[in-house]
Order: sequence, then C-alpha cells, then structure tokens
Amino acid sequence: MNHYTIATIAGDGIGQEVTPAARAVVDAVARTHGFTTSVVQHPWGCEYYLREGRMMPADGLAQLRSCDAIYLGAIGAPTVPDHVSVWELILPIRQHFEQYVNLRPMRLLSGVPGPLRDRTPADIDWVCVRENSEGEYAGLGGRLHKGTPHEVAEQTGLFTHRGIARVVRFACELAMSRPRKLLASATKSNALQHSMVLWDEVVDEVARDFPALTIRKYHVDALAARMVTHPQTLDVMVASNLFGDILTDLGAAVSGSLGVAPGANLNPPREHPSMFEPIHGSAPDIAGRGIANPIGAIWAAALMLDHLGETDASRQVVTAIEGVLAAGAVRTPDLGGAATTADMTSAVIAAL
Ligand code: IPM
Ligand code: MG
Repeated sequence: MNHYTIATIAGDGIGQEVTPAARAVVDAVARTHGFTTSVVQHPWGCEYYLREGRMMPADGLAQLRSCDAIYLGAIGAPTVPDHVSVWELILPIRQHFEQYVNLRPMRLLSGVPGPLRDRTPADIDWVCVRENSEGEYAGLGGRLHKGTPHEVAEQTGLFTHRGIARVVRFACELAMSRPRKLLASATKSNALQHSMVLWDEVVDEVARDFPALTIRKYHVDALAARMVTHPQTLDVMVASNLFGDILTDLGAAVSGSLGVAPGANLNPPREHPSMFEPIHGSAPDIAGRGIANPIGAIWAAALMLDHLGETDASRQVVTAIEGVLAAGAVRTPDLGGAATTADMTSAVIAAL
C-alpha cells in the first residue's frame, strides 16, 4: 500500500479552517483508493511569529525536506507586515525547493455564477503556468537613505535563460497534452526591453521542439483584457512570476470566486518536495466564522494527489467538486449561499 508523508502548514486565518477540510477529503479518498497518509502539522505562521520572532524555525526548510508533499493553508495576518510573513515562509519554500512552476487551473465550473455575461464553462477552461522561482520575485534590491527625503528603493527582476526555458518547456508540454494545443505567452517586451525580450527569445527557442503547438504572444495588459473579452480564445498560459500572480487572480475572479481556485508549486524533476495551496489568502475579515469556501483548498489537495501519482483519487475529488457545485444546493457565501465550510466539505465527501 502506498504511503505518503504530508507536511502541513495550515497557517493563518481561514487557512486553519480550509486545511482540515482538505485533509478530511484526502482521508476519505485514501480509504477507497488503498493508500495511506501521515500528516505532520507545523504550527508555523503569524501567531508563531508573535511568540518566536520568526515565521518558522531556523531549520524549518530542513524539516520539510524529507516529506512527499507540502500542504499550505494560507499565510498572513494584520499583526505581521505581509512582506515579512511572505518572505519568511512562502517565498523561501518556493525558491529553496525550486518549485519553479506554479500551476493554476482556472475554470468556470458549472453551477458557479461567474461575473462575465453569457459565458459558459466551455469558454473559461484555462491553466496558468506561472514562473515561481525568480523574475520580479527574485527578492534582489534594497533601500538606501531610509527615512530621508532622498530615500531610494531598488527592486531588481532577475530573468535567466535556464529559468525561463524550464518553465516555458513545462507549459509547452502541458499545452500539448490538451486537445487545443494552444499556448499564450504573457510578455511585455515593448516596455521591458531587457527581461521580456529575453523571455520572448527563449519562448521562440523552446517552441522549436513543439512544432504542433500554436503559441501566441500577448503583452500582459492585452492578455488581461482578452481573458475578459475573448476568454474562449485561451487555453494554457505561461507567465513570469508577477504577471502570473496578477493573471491568476483575474482568472479566479472570472471563474466566479477566489475561493474555488487551487495552486500547485511544483518541482517538476522531483528533486525536492512540491507545495500545494489554495490561491486565496488568509481572509482575516471572515476568519473564525466557519464560512470560508473550502473548494480551492480541496482542489489543491486533488492537485497534490495527482502529483503523488494517485491520479484516480485526484480525478474523483475533482469530479466530486464539479458535482457539488453543479447541483448548487450547497454554496458558501462567496458563491451567494449560506452554507458553512463544514457543509461544503461534507457535500464533497458525500459526492465522492
Ligand atoms: C499568491 C499570493 C502570493 C504571491 C503572495 C502571498 C506573496 O498572492 O500565491 O498568488 O504573490 O505569490
Ligand atoms: Mg496572488
């Protein structure tokens, strides 16, 4: 029987509510698919920071190294500056474990009222492959003359041929595995004449290995508009770290709710653990009320099962999510209903 060790960081706010929901669903499919999991819970996050002065222990990354997958709920609280919580936990994990692909499916699921008029699930069925280890999030730069009127800040984007090529190749392979064989590359090479011109050149170079693939380049601003005006013309997208961050929030919004969107931070060569998380944040405004939508978290767990090789179990979870949303009887407030996190979780488990 296959066994997986899952390092779990439920984190802050609604992360504490949606993580147990995802876990309950994993436990339920594990029983019927003949695998077992052990969950190692790490109490890291903003409360830990207020006690210990850091978001995770000094050897936190070492503690994560040997697990089969990392599951993250959400990080962030009003008590800790966001750049501190993010730069002491999420971004070090993504960078250290070379999780260079942030894979984010964005689908308008049947039964979910999306904000775009007359759009159906066939129109919005995308996957964003976001570069997740460098680019605008390289973390390079600094501030000088702090607190004076001549203070300066420099934030340097770092784009490497290797970093672009590996994420673009992943996106090309993913696009080739889908019926439309269609890839959109988000660029901005008109204004960013160094980084994004290199990006475009590497896209062209990698594309030579995929003659059957249609690759279209869009400036990221135009791509954002296209996601709203011509969503049916898009399938797989590949984008730099910051562009992918913005496009996937837009994608989640046009899919009806940030609460349903999942994400996978992948280390494709599997030299290090990958990390799975809903793309929503800790939502302090609704935390503690038991009304957070657990679908994004449950779907992220399905991406984790797929990565672990439990593809049938993963598919079953996604089918259960689709069934519950299509039936429409159980909806959390973000979807216009009054159901609780627990109601939604039970409905998904019942639909398995
Ligand atoms: C996301 C989030 C993070 C990001 C934040 C919390 C740093 O917005 O996962 O999309 O920008 O990557
Ligand atoms: Mg984001």
